[in-house]
Amino acid sequence: MLKGKHIIVGITGGIAAFKIATLVRLLIKRGAEVQVVMTPNAKEFITPVTLSALTGKPVVSEFFTANTGEWHSHVDLGLWADALVIAPATASTIGKMANGIADNMLVTTYLSAKAPVFIAPAMDLDMMAHPSTVRNIDLLRSYGNHIIEPAEGELASHLIGKGRMEEPENIVKVLDEFFSSSRPLSGKKILVTAGPTYERIDPVRFIGNFSTGKMGYALADAAARAGAEVTVISGPVSVSPSERSVKVIGVESACQMAKECERLFPETDIAIMCAAVADYAPAEFHETKMKRESRDTVTLELKRNPDIAATLGSMKKMNQKLVGFALETDHEDENALKKLHSKNLDMIVLNSLAVPGAGFATDTNKVTVFKADSSKIELPLMSKKDTAENIIRLLS
Ligand code: C5P
Repeated sequence: MLKGKHIIVGITGGIAAFKIATLVRLLIKRGAEVQVVMTPNAKEFITPVTLSALTGKPVVSEFFTANTGEWHSHVDLGLWADALVIAPATASTIGKMANGIADNMLVTTYLSAKAPVFIAPAMDLDMMAHPSTVRNIDLLRSYGNHIIEPAEGELASHLIGKGRMEEPENIVKVLDEFFSSSRPLSGKKILVTAGPTYERIDPVRFIGNFSTGKMGYALADAAARAGAEVTVISGPVSVSPSERSVKVIGVESACQMAKECERLFPETDIAIMCAAVADYAPAEFHETKMKRESRDTVTLELKRNPDIAATLGSMKKMNQKLVGFALETDHEDENALKKLHSKNLDMIVLNSLAVPGAGFATDTNKVTVFKADSSKIELPLMSKKDTAENIIRLLS
């Protein structure tokens, strides 16, 4: 599975750095192209000459080559990579990565990279157990990085405990598994709409709804983990994707969301319409703030917004799939199926507001999925992350 993959191996200054020659050899044996990036300290533990001989590429360590002034672009490196493996990852580099301290080529490359990142910590047991290390590793995990947990055993200090870098063979195994069956949507382009839309009344007011975007972003993350190239067209939300490869295009109104969706849909394999799009928008935008009137009531005229799902349904080609969501309060199955057919969807996910723990702003959801052949799959109450994984699996 690693054949042709571009892998950056980032080495930091830990004793386990000497094992990276083996890691690089194993990756190359499996057909990967490897670029080594080292922190200046790492060179104290393994020489760049060994690594450049193994990879056939000069090792990158500094921002510039001193004698020629040649600049090493961390941005280009980050874009080149299909995966980044930081091994061994010292407490210092882990802290820098978790907090964005980009004072060397390796952390700068990490911050620029869109590819999945694998981190194999290696340090003494007390450093490993220190609350700051634990917090930094948790932070890195929350950003969507993959932590290759260190093993227990005898450490360089001769103490015994957790902190030994995972063996190169096992690091390769983790990468192999990642690039194999776990990525059934590899090569697919997925569009997800998420969050609410805001429809402006005047410069300070809008019509909106309680959608937080959590479900849409969970779907985007799950699709990215399944290997898809994912773009989220997002209304105003305070959530962000955990998977760094997910691209977000921020919009405000239903019309803006419709425009972006119609632009991107022809190049999309699967579109998932998860946004809570306002059905109506003020017919007229007041250029200045509407004053409080002496009247007790005010009437706002509303005009219908475009139905994005239905529009994409009418544009849909044979090789494309379209998924919608439905939030119903009565005749749930019947209404969801009606929507599935009228919008030309391939699948509809029914959320029930009647179920505690489902719907807006919660971290859990309970959904029923209907496919175009009317088959029905009821998923139990579970986290939005797990709900998203299940929905994505149904699309794979
Ligand atoms: O018709 P209803 O709004 O209940 O349909 C819900 C589905 O349609 C959701 O997938 C939602 O994202 C999508 N939708 C849309 N554009 C609208 C209204 C709903 O894409 N204007």
